[in-house]
Amino acid sequence: MSFWTRHHVFEKNSIILVVGILLVIAIGGLVEILPLFYLKSTIEVVDGVRPYTPLELAGRNVYVREGCYLCHSQMIRPLRDEVERYGHFSLAAESMYDHPFQWGSKRTGPDLARVGGKYSDDWHVTHLTNPRAIVPQSVMPAYAFLASTEVDPETIADHLKTLRAVGVPYTDDQVANAAADLSAQASPDDSGTDALAKRYPKAVVRNFDGKAGLPTEMDALIAYLQMLGTLVDFKLYNEKANLR
Ligand code: HEC
Repeated sequence: MSFWTRHHVFEKNSIILVVGILLVIAIGGLVEILPLFYLKSTIEVVDGVRPYTPLELAGRNVYVREGCYLCHSQMIRPLRDEVERYGHFSLAAESMYDHPFQWGSKRTGPDLARVGGKYSDDWHVTHLTNPRAIVPQSVMPAYAFLASTEVDPETIADHLKTLRAVGVPYTDDQVANAAADLSAQASPDDSGTDALAKRYPKAVVRNFDGKAGLPTEMDALIAYLQMLGTLVDFKLYNEKANLR
C-alpha cells in the first residue's frame, strides 16, 4: 500500500483529520515564529533614540491619563499622503521605550508623531487651554486645568524605575537625579541643566508654560509634545540606509 492510499485513515477518523490539519497549519506558524528566537532584537537600532526625560515622561503620563490617544495617533505610515502631511514615516525604534505605545488608527485630530517643534510653546499653551481660540471648529476638549496642577517630583523616580523593570535602560544616575532633572528642564536658569543635557541628549530646556514656579502638568505635557519625533536625524538615517 503506497503512502497516498493511506488517506482513508484521515477520511474515516475526524480526530486524526483535525490533528493532521493542525500539524499542517502549525508549519506556517513555525516558519514565521522560529526565526524570531535567533534574532537579538526585532527592532533596528537607530541613533538618537533615548528614554524620555523625567519631565517628558510626566507629560506622557498626562497624555495617557487624559486619553489624548483616543483622538490622536502617533504612527505615520509609509504612504505618500501621510509622509507629505506629517513627515518621515515612523520607525519602530522611535516607540521602543513607549509603555504603552501610542500607535493607532483613530484620527479625530491629526497624527502627533512629529508634532515636536511644529508650533511654539505659547501656541500649545493657548491651544490646550482653549483649542477653539486657535481653531474655531475644533472638537478637542480644553485642558486649562493642567496649568494649575504641579507635577509631583517625589514620585517621578519611581516611574523611571518601573519602566526600567520592563526594559527601558534608565541608568542609576538617571534614577537618582530624576527629581532634579524634572525641575531643571522647565527652568533654563537652573544649575542642573548641563547635567540634564548630558543624561538626555537633545533635551529641550525651556519654561514651557511661561510661568514661574515648579513645573506644572502643562509644562510636562508641552515638553513631551515638543520632543515628539525630533530625536532621530533623518538626513543621517537615510544616508546610512543608502549605504546598507
Ligand atoms: C475629542 C478628540 C480630541 C481629544 C481627546 C484630543 N484632541 Fe487634540 N485635536 C483634536 C482635533 C480635532 C484637532 C484639530 C483641530 C485643532 O487644532 O484643535 C486637534 C489638534 C491637536 C494638536 C495640533 C496638531 C497639529 O498638528 O496641528 C495638538 C498638539 C493636540 N491636538 C494635542 C492634544 C493633546 C495633548 C490631547 C490630550 C491632552 C488632545 N489633543 C486631545 C481632537 C482631540
